[in-house]
Formats: sequence, structure tokens, C-alpha cells
Amino acid sequence: MRIRRSLIDLDDLAAEELDQIFERTAQFERSPPGRLLAGTGCVNMFFEESTRTFASFNIAELRLGADVVNLAPHKLSLATKGETVEDTAITLNALGISIIVIRHPEPGFPQRFALAFDGHVVNAGDGVHAHPTQALLDIYTLREEFGELRERTIAIVGDVLHSRVAHSTIRGLQRLGASVVLVGPEGFLPGGYAGNGITIQRDFDAVLPHVDAIVLLRIQRERFVEMPLSDADYVGAYRLDQRRLGLVRKDAIVMHPGPYNRGMELDDSVLEFAGWRYARQVHHGVGVRMAVLDFLVNAPSGP
Ligand code: ASP
Ligand code: CP
Repeated sequence: MRIRRSLIDLDDLAAEELDQIFERTAQFERSPPGRLLAGTGCVNMFFEESTRTFASFNIAELRLGADVVNLAPHKLSLATKGETVEDTAITLNALGISIIVIRHPEPGFPQRFALAFDGHVVNAGDGVHAHPTQALLDIYTLREEFGELRERTIAIVGDVLHSRVAHSTIRGLQRLGASVVLVGPEGFLPGGYAGNGITIQRDFDAVLPHVDAIVLLRIQRERFVEMPLSDADYVGAYRLDQRRLGLVRKDAIVMHPGPYNRGMELDDSVLEFAGWRYARQVHHGVGVRMAVLDFLVNAPSGP
């Protein structure tokens, strides 16, 4: 069986392929590309909750003219009738499906599926492992703002340990030569993350005047049993609020993959801040996902 191109994490894309995806994104956002995926069967399987990723993959697929099927996980035969991942893949192949977009709580599940499926698998978030299309849209948003990221410093703040977004975005930023400062308490940010262009800071206030962008993260409560510190302590040390916004550079931007929890990692003043780019990130989610889908299906594959 021919293994077709999948996107499990950013390292599946070479540097020039990242550029191609960003160029396609810009092009598709400027003018709708038409039905580049006409007749292509596309299944979305989201085993975890999603608002942004699910909606934007759907919009992207429909804009490209794909035949879209949304399979609700609890209604799959995989869930209740003992059908295996491998046999689900065989079945979807037999139905002529070419693209599967998967979100799953188990790290490695999309990869497992890709090994059994003769088509393209796109990871829409697997446990704490990776969320490559979120990283792509985050990096696209940063490049729209700053161009080259080589001289830029990006702070990623909060529950890095359980954030698949952080894991993929850090990898992408490292590859593009940006400096990454991770900020958070030990329980959410073990020392092992330091190295390879990454520094760790526990003192949020000390970081704020020196960074070009701040990426806030939600505390991923669904992925651990006990908070490593109290909510009040977290808020005191790491919430971005009006006072802390006073410390950031005038041209700095603030991002968040969403969903954000008001009162925890940010307060309402952040939503009024001139550099708040959340809506821009969400907007780019459609263009980036159109670009990824078109790239996987239509770009000539290597030798
Ligand atoms: N929506 C992102 C994810 O699914 C981030 C988050 O949930 O906080 O990983
Ligand atoms: N950013 C993100 O993945 O959001 P959803 O979990 O709502 O898809």
C-alpha cells in the first residue's frame, strides 16, 4: 500500500513546504481558489470537543468543494461494536474517502490511523502531543505581524506541559529561528524544556518588557487530576491583566489558541488591548486549513 502524505506534526513538513503552505494560505485568503477538492471524500472524526478547529476544517473543506462527512465518535462502530482502527480505515478507504481529519485524546492515535489508511490523515489535536494546524495558524499570524521571526522573541505562558498547541508551536518557532521564552510554574513547566533556543522564566513580570509576542495558554484541566498550585496563586503570578499589560512593549501582540478562560490566564482588559490578535488567529484557521488540505492532496509528492 502506498503511504500518502499526512500531517501528524510540523516535522512532517520540510522548510520549503512550510513556506508553500503559508504562500497558499495568503493566496486563498486573497481570492477563493475554487473547487480544488471537488469529488474528494473527506471525513472529520472529533473524539474530543472542539469549536474552532472543527468549524474551520469544515469551512475549509466545503470551500474547496470536498464531499464532507462528519462522523460523531460515539456513533461510530469503532466505539460500540468492536470494530478496530485498522478495519475502520479499510472501510473508509472502500467508501472512497481520501482525507481523514482526526482529533483524539490519545497521543499517537492519528499516526496509528494513518498507518492503516490509504489516504491523508490530518491531526487536529492528539492528547498532549501535537496540534500542527493550530501551530501553523499561530506562526502565520506572527509572520503577518513581524515578517521574519529570526530576531523575534515569543513568550509562551502557562500550562506548557499539557498543551499540544505549545508543543507544536515551540517546534515551529525553533525551526524558524525565533527565540522562545517559556513562562510558568514548575508544575506546568518542568526544567527539561530549556535548551535549543528555549529559555525558561518563572517571573512573568520580568519577561513582559522584552518580548514581541505573548502566547497565553489555557490550563488544560481535563488532562490532569490535581492543580499543581492554587487558582489564586496561578492568577497572582501568571494572569495577564491591566497592570501587566502596562509592562509590555507598545508594539507587542498577545495571542491565545482559544478557548480562553476569562479570569484565569487573562482578564477582560486583554480583550481591549490594541495588540490582541485572537480573532486574527481564528480567521487564519480557515485559510491555513484550506492550504494544508490542498497541499496534501494536490502538491506533487517527492521521490
Ligand atoms: N483548543 C486547543 C486544543 O485543543 C487549546 C485548548 O484547548 O486550550 O489543544
Ligand atoms: N484552538 C482550538 O483547537 O480550539 P478548539 O479546541 O475549540 O478546536
